[in-house]
Amino acid sequence: MADLLLGQVLSYAGDPFEDTSAARLHEAVLVDGGKIRAVGSAAALRAAHPDARITSYGKSLISAGFIDAHVHYPQTAIIASWGKRLIDWLNQYTFPEEIRFSDPAYATEIANRYFDLALAHGTTAMCSYGTIHPASVDAFFEGAKARGLRAFTGKTCMDRNAPEALRDTAQSAYDDSKALLQKWHGVDRLSYVITPRFSPTSTPEQLAALGALWHEYPDCLMQTHLSEQTDEIAWVKDLFPQSRDYLDTYEAQGLLREGALYGHAIHLTDREKSRLIEAGASLVHCPTSNTFIGSGLFDMTLARHLRVGLATDTGGGSSFSMLRTMAAAYEVAQLRGQALHPSQLWWLATQGSARALRAEHQIGNIAPGLEADLVVVNLTSTPGIEQATRRAEDIWQAVFPTIMMGDDRAVEAVWIAGHVR
Ligand code: GUN
Ligand code: ZN
Repeated sequence: MADLLLGQVLSYAGDPFEDTSAARLHEAVLVDGGKIRAVGSAAALRAAHPDARITSYGKSLISAGFIDAHVHYPQTAIIASWGKRLIDWLNQYTFPEEIRFSDPAYATEIANRYFDLALAHGTTAMCSYGTIHPASVDAFFEGAKARGLRAFTGKTCMDRNAPEALRDTAQSAYDDSKALLQKWHGVDRLSYVITPRFSPTSTPEQLAALGALWHEYPDCLMQTHLSEQTDEIAWVKDLFPQSRDYLDTYEAQGLLREGALYGHAIHLTDREKSRLIEAGASLVHCPTSNTFIGSGLFDMTLARHLRVGLATDTGGGSSFSMLRTMAAAYEVAQLRGQALHPSQLWWLATQGSARALRAEHQIGNIAPGLEADLVVVNLTSTPGIEQATRRAEDIWQAVFPTIMMGDDRAVEAVWIAGHVR
């Protein structure tokens, strides 16, 4: 049966970084068979679909669901761990927690906890890292499958500079990744992502093995970290004396092309920027993480030249909320002298992330033919937001207080593949 949802339906007719008037508001969206079938005026859609079941959301915003383009679901339980910068934070908090994922039951418990939190925050699709354990990928994909989600993940590969219990080898990383890819890639709405953690924890041999795997499965994504902290970059320089720069450690092993997703990408050289643009790579901005771990300020002007997604980076990031993440992106851009428009922030959290994941033909916007993953956002979810919104003279003035101050209390409903949760 078709569903007709009434509210303030937000879609994009283009990229707001190119055209700040690219957003569109409609009164209604028709959903059937898991897909968006039509958008338009309430009267016209009611008349054309008299049998549709109607759900009215009043003045709430109906948007494409949020897409978190870089998360570590295994770090759910260690979010908000105090006092460390990247390398110490990994050693003190992250690696001990990831060791616990040798127990598949624990992986399942945390995957389910993560999905429930993500959905409560209006995140309907996500691209996660696993741990080095293949069962961590099974746990994630089983949780996503049970909820009908479009979801991406891969086994994190590390063969050096990590505790013994978290090290694989070049060969086992290749074999395990390939077996998981063959098991899961393209099942339901699931996609496998080849996942070397980052150059400090992979030998050139392991990066080359994963480059070879990517060559065999070119339609997969490949995700890793790039130039997050200056100490990390100095370490990469020591570990790879023959490389021109950090990006070159990936490029030299076949890990730079369309479908590559680089998290953070803060301290880039001019060569790195131009190669990333030429290669058609995607960057993922993780602003709450970049401030929380003290990494630096991402250059959002890059969004004019390549695909940029937005992400929580749970648990280096300090929030599960893509609203809070948009707020942090706004604040970081302000510190760089750029005021991002609310329509740009919202687009980054939906279509920007979909484009980074090369899934914009499936998710990230409200348009006929796209999958019906939707979030309904109450624009007056707290007294502080409500009193600011009361003065709004246009939709973006009404949305911006929720971007800056909103959280899971603003999430009124979530629709996954045309079904309300
Ligand atoms: N670099 C390598 N691994 C990680 C991680 O788990 N989190 C963050 N923020 N950066 C990383
Ligand atoms: Zn990360």
